[in-house]
Amino acid sequence: MSPENTRVAIIGAGPAGLLLSWALRDAGIDSIVVENRSQDYVLARIRAGVLEQSAVETLTRLGLGERIRTEGLEHDGIYLQFRGERHHVDFQELIGRSVTVYGQQEVVKDLIAAHNAAGSTIYYEAADVAVHDLESSAPRVTFTHADEAHEITADFVVGADGFHGVCRASIPREAITLYDRSYPYAWLGILANVAPSTDELIYALHEDGFAMHSMRSPHVSRLYLQVDTADSLDQWPDERIWENLHARLGVPGWTLQEGEITDKSITPMRSFVASRLAYGSLFLAGDAGHIVPPTGAKGLNSAIADVTMLAAALAAHYADDDALLSGYGEAALRRQWRVQQFSQWMTDLLHRNRTDLQTMEFDYQSQLGRLDYVTGSVHAQRELAEQYSGLPF
Ligand code: FAD
Ligand code: DHB
Repeated sequence: MSPENTRVAIIGAGPAGLLLSWALRDAGIDSIVVENRSQDYVLARIRAGVLEQSAVETLTRLGLGERIRTEGLEHDGIYLQFRGERHHVDFQELIGRSVTVYGQQEVVKDLIAAHNAAGSTIYYEAADVAVHDLESSAPRVTFTHADEAHEITADFVVGADGFHGVCRASIPREAITLYDRSYPYAWLGILANVAPSTDELIYALHEDGFAMHSMRSPHVSRLYLQVDTADSLDQWPDERIWENLHARLGVPGWTLQEGEITDKSITPMRSFVASRLAYGSLFLAGDAGHIVPPTGAKGLNSAIADVTMLAAALAAHYADDDALLSGYGEAALRRQWRVQQFSQWMTDLLHRNRTDLQTMEFDYQSQLGRLDYVTGSVHAQRELAEQYSGLPF
């Protein structure tokens, strides 16, 4: 057994855990990160792609902005497409804000490079991770690493271990309520080696379902299609994917360029919020505490927002001011519910719900009416721009 001591023990080396550890280091607070996957696995995981302006500001302030500045693609708005017509929503013109397309994988790569250079303690491939004594002021984390049993005692434990992690599940069932909403469709996402056919992201509602054109670089496109929840990847050979993307994203006088597909995955859509993000000496951050459907591009940004607030609260605690830390759970939750309603709205607005034959066609026409309203009203566009580009932390 190797007993260790640190101020903050962080479970999970996703963007939330890695960024929190980095922000704490910046504030002179030591932490240890415990992750159950390998470093290579964490680096290879392809997920979100859009950073809000506040997320870019946080990363830049913490010295992680170099590659975002040189390789990130700053977008002034998005396109909304319906009835085969494409409408530009110009955030910059509407509210003077923008977003940056920079893959989550790149954020994680920058964080791991920074931690490795600084010699941070991160245990990858930790097995049987468990948290204990959360009601006390000396919580513990136990795990096995390289066949050796480990125990870390800390002042606080942070659950940054994603939706399926162990931390949220360690809060007694009677002390927490889980709010959940699933959606009757999923996203099939691809990465393709081809220059994006668009300058900014296209979100399209089509009779056949939702489609989106995003990107990762001037040479790599990221595209998504609404598929059925029961669909598997073998039902979606490359030709069928391109055929559907052409049909749903096509507008007269514009061509979607095809390229070699290098990654393909299907993601279910879920809205989920835990009623508390703080319990005793445990704090939850990121997907461990809440999940959004991806339509509003809020998953990664919410993780960064939580961590920005939590790092500031922990820094204040060690400077003898507890107000922020005792208010973290509530402040992060209130912010999260504002993000939840936006993600739910974007999702309902842009997907075909075919579960109720009786209301299906009415709902589709009503969605088109809503899109007509949004694209025709500067007030509605401002509301969209403000929420998409991000609430201040
Ligand atoms: P995670 O990234 O999930 O990190 C949690 C970490 O904890 C992981 O490294 C995990 O291995 C580790 N862990 C789990 N259990 C344990 C344990 N018991 N012990 C130790 N470590 C553990 N958002 C968007 O906005 N757009 C998208 O297109 C998009 N696509 C997504 C696709 C998929 C398949 C998924 C799952 C999510 C997607 N998201 C997307 C959401 C976004 O990626 C997440 O919101 C973001 O990753 C949250 O970061 P996190 O650090 O909180 O959690
Ligand atoms: C991407 C993902 C999203 O969920 C979104 O809303 C916009 C872009 C992306 O992966 O690029």
